[in-house]
Amino acid sequence: MDTSQSAFLETMRRQFDFGPYPRHPIDQSPRNEPNELFVYNLVTPYYLRDQRVISTEGKLILDAGCGTGYKALTLALANPGARVVGVDISPKSVELAQQRLEHHGLKDSVELQVLAIEDLPQLGMAFDYINCDEVLYFFDDIARGLAALKSVLKPEGIIRANLHSALQRAIFFRAQELFGLMGLMEPDAEEMAIPIVVETMKALNGGIDLKKRSWLPKYETDDNAEALLANHLLQGDKGYRIADLFAALQKADLAFVSMLNWRHWEVADLFNEPDNLPAYLAMGLADSSIQDRLTLYELLHPVHRLLDFWCGHPSDTPSPTPLAEWDIATWQTAQVTLHPQLLTDKVRAAATEAIYKRQPLMLSEFLNLPTLNPVPVDSGVAALLLGLFNGPMAFAALVDHWRTLRSVDWVTLEPVSVEAAQQQVIEMLSSLETFLYVLVEPQP
Ligand SMILES: C[S@@+](CC[C@H](N)C(=O)[O-])C[C@H]1O[C@@H](n2cnc3c(N)ncnc32)[C@H](O)[C@@H]1O
Repeated sequence: MDTSQSAFLETMRRQFDFGPYPRHPIDQSPRNEPNELFVYNLVTPYYLRDQRVISTEGKLILDAGCGTGYKALTLALANPGARVVGVDISPKSVELAQQRLEHHGLKDSVELQVLAIEDLPQLGMAFDYINCDEVLYFFDDIARGLAALKSVLKPEGIIRANLHSALQRAIFFRAQELFGLMGLMEPDAEEMAIPIVVETMKALNGGIDLKKRSWLPKYETDDNAEALLANHLLQGDKGYRIADLFAALQKADLAFVSMLNWRHWEVADLFNEPDNLPAYLAMGLADSSIQDRLTLYELLHPVHRLLDFWCGHPSDTPSPTPLAEWDIATWQTAQVTLHPQLLTDKVRAAATEAIYKRQPLMLSEFLNLPTLNPVPVDSGVAALLLGLFNGPMAFAALVDHWRTLRSVDWVTLEPVSVEAAQQQVIEMLSSLETFLYVLVEPQP
């Protein structure tokens, strides 16, 4: 490690020993937060990449830069049977993470260590999944950070990492530059800096741009340290564009899988009529790469603080065929599974109630991350899904089930043919799969 890398690590260690992150109370738990668990559940990215439903049993997960352990806790809860290893350069953060995991009774499935990401090979382990949340943007060379993660990734493994958006977060980079000029971003200056930042910002006229766009009442409370240290006074913070992300992946020889909130990066959704885009744009979009589409989104509507993504080793295996392009023969081999984060008594009770009361089942009330709008599911579809609470089902079994539920056409009263029932089930499953509410696997 050269001297500039050692100095960088020392800045990180000092910064996060002074202000460990996050400061969530020790008894706070994501156990009843399906949207959080959905992202941290390995089933989600593995299905997005491979169209396969994996078992989390026995999987080895790394939380790189685990801070005070809230995400390691989330990973352990979201992935039953998996083992989690958390590492961080800050001993104070690791100590707090240890306390958090012990408090939640998870010290046997999570192991924590003080270790730099640069030194990961020292673990002598290879991981099925690496979570590197809110860390990569500190690296001087993000490709170097990604390469360090890749060095301990199994051939089939997946990395989740994120960068701060240069466009969405521009106002905080300006604030950091200002407070840097005022000498408040020096090593060990945090204690002195916090009240000076508050005093300065309070004294500014309310119409001043920096205050209007970067200041909130919560920054003036006694509890303001975490928010100020994570924004106006965050040392080593840097912003990136979509092009930087793809350049770093290329340099580290990694392949992009998907954005984490992939449904929130759809250019078409930014228009009044997503199905009726201006012709010139629609033509361009049809032929554009994922990098170009994300760049368009970023230029039109840079509202996401994080460029949050999954990636993995490059592979020669062709990408799976989207359901919209499947022929009936492929459907006939398919197996259907409910997303594990929907497999709860609460959702099953809501589905049963929707069936008896003949009202829509609002799956988006239980899992709304992969959708921008509420998704009402017809009570008939809810009846179809009910069997999936007992485990995966073959497509053919679902079609039989549907024919029992809807044996005749409600308009003509003619019996419903197998072909018509198959088509109806395909349409229902395809619309639910858009949000990963159901996962549909072709047989190899
Ligand atoms: C903003 S916190 C994020 C903590 C946690 N990942 C989360 O999202 O809740 C960044 C963490 O990364 C750690 N860190 C920064 N650079 C690191 C490095 N090179 N190796 C290991 N840990 C590092 C810091 O000590 C800090 O705890």
